[in-house]
Amino acid sequence: MGIARMDTNVQNIHREAPNILITGTPGVGKSSLCQRLSEIVGMQWLEVSRIAKEHNCLEEYDPVYQCPILDEDKLMDGLEETMCTGGNIVDYHSCEFFPERWFDAVFVLTTDNTTLYDRLTNRGYTGKKLDDNVQCEIFNVILEEAKRSYKEDIVFELSNTVPQDLEDNIGKICQWLQHWFQRRSG
Ligand SMILES: Nc1ncnc2c1ncn2[C@@H]1O[C@H](COP(=O)(O)OP(=O)(O)OP(=O)(O)O)[C@@H](O)[C@H]1O
Ligand SMILES: [Mg+2]
Repeated sequence: MGIARMDTNVQNIHREAPNILITGTPGVGKSSLCQRLSEIVGMQWLEVSRIAKEHNCLEEYDPVYQCPILDEDKLMDGLEETMCTGGNIVDYHSCEFFPERWFDAVFVLTTDNTTLYDRLTNRGYTGKKLDDNVQCEIFNVILEEAKRSYKEDIVFELSNTVPQDLEDNIGKICQWLQHWFQRRSG
């Protein structure tokens, strides 16, 4: 076991509640799920895109992807204390730049490709932005990123295409949370 991993485990023991990451391609339903989940379990929903905007963590605009560039270091410095306390649901469409020690579980939402195409078109996405996001989903880019960046046994794929999936996924995450608290007290 490497030093980094030992450090990770020591940090986790001190958390009062777990931190979980909800990630996946834009449009897979992360925010819909996080909003519902945070209402049900009372954990804090941290929508990274919104927090970055509110705390001036966005740099110049990327003309190709038609979105601002995130100042990752500034964002992470601002979140460190909150994450050390625990009890957070982090919502973001990328996952590799966060410190590994922050998360007890990483849930990657995935969606049927045609459904995602329709959702993004409805949002007004066109051209390269639309194509790149749909390709990202087709090639499981975020799922692979998560498996590369975190221990595989804390990474869970949740299929999220129809409304019933949302309910099922919330149920699965609640079950995982219950186990975490049982392990901690046991
Ligand atoms: N399980 C589901 N069944 C049907 N529609 C869904 C489901 N989950 C989310 N949606 C719909 O998909 C659209 C995108 O959802 P949402 O905004 O939650 O995605 P997101 O992953 O947070 O996107 P972004 O990364 O851009 O913030 C919304 O219109 C939402 O209502
Ligand atoms: Mg969102």
